[in-house]
Amino acid sequence: MKWKHKHLLGIDQLSGEEIRFLLEKGNQYREWLEQSPKKLTRLSGYYLINLFFEASTRTRVSFEMAGKLLGMEVVNFTNELSSLNKGESFRDTVRTLARMKVDALVIRHRSSGIPLYISQFLPFHIINAGDGMREHPTQALLDLLTMKRDGIDFTRNTVAIIGDILHSRVARSLSIGLKKLGSQVIFSGPPTLIPKGIEVLEGQVVYPVEEAIRQADVVYLLRIQKERQEAGFFPSAKEYASFFGLKEKPKGPDGRWKKIMHPGPVNRGLEIDSSLVEKENSLIEEQVSCGLAIRMAVLETLILGGANG
Ligand code: CP
Repeated sequence: MKWKHKHLLGIDQLSGEEIRFLLEKGNQYREWLEQSPKKLTRLSGYYLINLFFEASTRTRVSFEMAGKLLGMEVVNFTNELSSLNKGESFRDTVRTLARMKVDALVIRHRSSGIPLYISQFLPFHIINAGDGMREHPTQALLDLLTMKRDGIDFTRNTVAIIGDILHSRVARSLSIGLKKLGSQVIFSGPPTLIPKGIEVLEGQVVYPVEEAIRQADVVYLLRIQKERQEAGFFPSAKEYASFFGLKEKPKGPDGRWKKIMHPGPVNRGLEIDSSLVEKENSLIEEQVSCGLAIRMAVLETLILGGANG
């Protein structure tokens, strides 16, 4: 496929065919990751800057690893040590980086729309690693890759996304991606954390959580985003865990365990009982491995234009 997008700003910009292309490439890299030693030279000579203004383990480290595995030089921009602390504006900071002739920039920022904004005046590839409450496209791609590798048929699949939908860029990106591949999406959780206008995401809101789980093939739990919650959306962590947290392995009518997913980081004992995180029906750890693979696929596709397959 000839790739037509310079940037990856959101899953909403991709067609179903383009998502399937990235999943296929990600799947090849996921297989390749089982080898040792691991090193490719496909992106040798290209430079990547990781620019994170919010905390991250999975996304930041996997982009760094993905770049290095493909032969890139990777620079991690450290906000605390930057000249932003001397009063330099955000715009001047990113324009300064542009003058250093890098090839791609991965950015996470608390403000929705920042990746789109900088893509309008920076000359290199921009990859959105999470912008405010808007999008987290590589999270959605890694979630879809995890489902694909688990043998899930997207056209006969219902995913219940449960929890803090209101603040969740993950819920937004994943539900858009699932719909593009033909899956059904259900939202559930505390009514205070289901946003007005959720209809635009074409999912069905189902209460209570137990009923949403009953209707689903995959149970996708969201992290409670304490850092974005200004109001008290539920009385206490104990009450959230009691009414909305997953406490036992969900079983289908055929007696098989339903798959559990979570983007991480997990608040054990809040969104999910700690004992369920590593159970055999949990895909949470595999999501992390698929994250590395899909970020390799994204970097290669953006920079080389999808030429290799
Ligand atoms: N899921 C996710 O984005 O995790 P990090 O915040 O650790 O990158």
